[in-house]
Amino acid sequence: MEEEKFLELVGSVDFRDEYGEVCRQLERQIREIGRQMSLLLRRDFIIAVDWRVKGPKSCAEKLKRKGRELTPENAAERLNDIAGVRVICSFLDDIYLLCERLANDFGYQVIKKKDYVKKPKRSGYQSLHLVLGIPRPDGRQIRAEIQLRTQAMDFWAGVEHHFVYKNDELPRDVVRKEFRECAKAIYNLDQKMMSLRDYLS
Ligand code: GTP
Ligand code: MG
Repeated sequence: MEEEKFLELVGSVDFRDEYGEVCRQLERQIREIGRQMSLLLRRDFIIAVDWRVKGPKSCAEKLKRKGRELTPENAAERLNDIAGVRVICSFLDDIYLLCERLANDFGYQVIKKKDYVKKPKRSGYQSLHLVLGIPRPDGRQIRAEIQLRTQAMDFWAGVEHHFVYKNDELPRDVVRKEFRECAKAIYNLDQKMMSLRDYLS
């Protein structure tokens, strides 16, 4: 399919609305879990929920990178993160609790789970990623990627995303090494904050 046609179809309200609906549904469910957990634990559980529907240009770029033809069907079948939800929690163990609840409470199929906390990316990036299959009223299923991370990880990811991620020109090895060290410091900080919390509660 011509790129222009692809951009028009994948950028259309018809295509994007369904992904927006799925994101809103997930946001509602995540906030409800957060409300219940806050009551139970008597503290903040979810700090923020954010979502976006991937733009048509990014969809085209990613399909090209994967060597796939540009069609809306390929976008729906090959891209996991057209619907992307990000959840920020206070503590590291909260993200695992939330991940369990999300996978169990609603019967969503867990298509993929990537634990970049246990095994950080080369950049140092840490987060827990879930790809869920969300059933639609017509029986189809669409995918959504959920990124779960702590506030500390979000701080790292925000700065690194701005200065380094997908920037092939600028970063020298030194910069990358510094970011990896910061990521380690973030991991240690997350561990310490949990210990402090447990000590104080
Ligand atoms: P993308 O093509 O980047 O979407 O990768 P992917 O679909 O193969 O999935 P992956 O699990 O590698 O990463 C998906 C998303 O995680 C990205 O779109 C970013 O939001 C985030 N991410 C992954 N790696 C990094 C990283 O090194 N730094 C930052 N800041 N974010 C990252
Ligand atoms: Mg992505």
